[in-house]
Amino acid sequence: MNDDTRSDISLRVNDKPYQLAVDNRRTLLDAVRDDLSLTGTKKGCDHGQCGACTVLLNGQRVLSCLTLAVAADGADVTTIEGLAGDGELRPIQEAFVRLDGFQCGFCTPGQICSAVGMLAEHAAGWPSAVTCDGSPEHTPELTEAEVRERMSGNLCRCSAYPSIVRAILETAAREAVAG
Ligand code: FES
Ligand code: FES
Repeated sequence: MNDDTRSDISLRVNDKPYQLAVDNRRTLLDAVRDDLSLTGTKKGCDHGQCGACTVLLNGQRVLSCLTLAVAADGADVTTIEGLAGDGELRPIQEAFVRLDGFQCGFCTPGQICSAVGMLAEHAAGWPSAVTCDGSPEHTPELTEAEVRERMSGNLCRCSAYPSIVRAILETAAREAVAG
């Protein structure tokens, strides 16, 4: 029932449909974690500063703590729980594990969801502040500096950055070889 304070919404989360009645002020982060019990997505700052809550909304990375659940009505949401398919880790997940891309792991779901979105943005030619010359056709080489800039919204208290960057660069190289 929709009124001034609550709305009925539909979400497709990790390929499963959900109907929710949410307070209009409820964030997507709280809806995913508390209403759908998908607690892989982490609440760090709850203020858009740490990136721990990053999920994919219609394939693009967003901070779920800054996204109202009602604004995601009808959308496809992918959380860390939905990235692996048929029990197989995605290459980026496997690379994080193999290359020690984490220590405590709290930031890791957000880092990995952000990396998936970032690699898609880069493949689509989205510019970044580091190496782009401003041309719409310009697709910057994915250097370490480029990855650090594009992942700068995802903080890691354990400072596992070197391994995170290595995991992303290796995954990008493998995807480039695979075409
Ligand atoms: Fe969303 Fe920190 S919890 S950015
Ligand atoms: Fe601990 Fe990133 S691995 S916060």
